[in-house]
Order: sequence, then structure tokens, then C-alpha cells
Amino acid sequence: MSEKKHKVSRRQFLTYTLTGVGGFMAATIISPMARMALDPALEVGEEGDFVSVGLSEDDLTDEPQRVDFVVEIEDGWYEDEQNRSAYVYRNGDEILAMSPTCTHLGCTVGWDTNDDHPDQFFCPCHLGRFERDGTNIEGTPPTRPLDVYDVEVRDGMIYLGQIRQRG
Ligand code: FES
Repeated sequence: MSEKKHKVSRRQFLTYTLTGVGGFMAATIISPMARMALDPALEVGEEGDFVSVGLSEDDLTDEPQRVDFVVEIEDGWYEDEQNRSAYVYRNGDEILAMSPTCTHLGCTVGWDTNDDHPDQFFCPCHLGRFERDGTNIEGTPPTRPLDVYDVEVRDGMIYLGQIRQRG
């Protein structure tokens, strides 16, 4: 065999390279979709987990209290920890755990942080405001209420689950 036959032409090199990269990208996109299609319960189970936020039911008042906690995310071989926050409080008979993520463009809201608008959730980015129950205030940028976490009380302690969108 002559040495010439072992050489790879520029065209062949490009073909091999692009086929390899394309195949890798297709596998990256398709395999999680196939896994979820074959086992939809996998995602539900992981997202349905509840996490203790270190507050007891007796600690709760009508005043929203901020809690910061960590959620472990497992997705097949991928594991990660995510920091989350919530405002937890009593609202009549129910316990609310409000997400502090502004529903306008995702900044973090604070409770009772604006002197001109006390007892509201306030977003400093574009002056968005929400009522105590998370309802967006008309005339400010957000167009839907703050999201809420699923809440469970276990042995008197507060556990938070998935975040739910309202409105
Ligand atoms: S991100 Fe909150 S008002 Fe715009």
C-alpha cells in the first residue's frame, strides 16, 4: 500500500470532524428526551421532594420571614446543589411560602423594604410591587402574582417542595 493512501484529504477530515461533532450534539439533545419519555416518573419523583427549612410551625406569624435553604438536584449522573429562598408566613388558615423571584424579569423582591410602600413585596429593579398575599399590584411592571412553594408540615416542622406558578 502506498503512503499516499493513508493521507486524509481536507474534505475527508472535515467530513469526519463534522459527523463526530454532529453525532455528539444529537446524542446530547436526544438522550435526556428519550430518558424522560421512557421514564416520566423519574423527573416527578425528584422534583417532588420536600426540604426542611429549619422553621417550626410555631415560629410562624403573619409577618413574612425569609428562609434560605439548599436543594439537591439529581438528574441521572448529574448532581448539583441549588440555593433557594422563600418568605414563609401565615395567611389566615393557610401557610404561605412565597418565592422572592420577581415575576417581571426575575430580580429578588424584599418584604417591607420600601418606606413609601410598607407591608408589600418590593422589587428594586423596576419598582415592581406585590400585596402581602403575592398578588401583583396594578400599575407596576409585574403582570402576575409571585410564585409559591408547596408546603408540608411534618412533626411540626415546615418543609417546602416544588414552586408553583399562579395566575
Ligand atoms: S424585575 Fe422586578 S420589577 Fe422588573
